[in-house]
Amino acid sequence: MNRPAGPRQKVDPVSLEVFSTAAACPDWAALAGTAQGCVACPELAATRATVVVGDAPAGARLALVGEAPGADEDRTGRPFVGRAGRLLDQVLAEAGLDRSAVAVLNVLQCRPPGNRPPTATEAVRCRGWLERKLDLAGPELVVTLGLSAAVAFLGRGVKLGEIRGRVHPAYGRQVLPTYHPSAALRFGPAGAPLAYLRADLAAAAALLT
Ligand code: URA
Repeated sequence: MNRPAGPRQKVDPVSLEVFSTAAACPDWAALAGTAQGCVACPELAATRATVVVGDAPAGARLALVGEAPGADEDRTGRPFVGRAGRLLDQVLAEAGLDRSAVAVLNVLQCRPPGNRPPTATEAVRCRGWLERKLDLAGPELVVTLGLSAAVAFLGRGVKLGEIRGRVHPAYGRQVLPTYHPSAALRFGPAGAPLAYLRADLAAAAALLT
């Protein structure tokens, strides 16, 4: 039997379905409504309280992409509203960036139980939503927060300490990876993650001036 040349990769049919469902959403409101019914990841669909689609203010030039909703986000339906979100707002303000003008998204739009990291399958299954959200938001720059989001754009095996603070082209976008505000909280006010988060958001702000 003749096989087509090139690497053979298994394509997850659920991911393909998410891609086509998301791509068919003509605008943010349609996407936000449709995403509420997503059951691509059965465990997440069974345990979530809400689908946290994210924020996409009109004309946003910057998009932040985090990992996944936590308990506060799951309860309220809004991204980055807990402790990490409050730190993020503060660091954004220090960099001269107004959160209300920034798109705020996550690799996953449903909370993983116990805040475990997203599995590779979950990240792939949510990818169609994320891509469509970025298309609709149309930012000039994407800042990824933490390793899960960096991996989603730049691939497995990246080391945050090596790639942070610089712009990398990925998926037709300009991507600047930095640390997650949760890491900044974990390492405290004198820790490197907070210093890098501050410096990298300031660099993002400078790129957009
Ligand atoms: N952590 C994330 O990665 N995203 C959120 O929305 C909240 C906490």
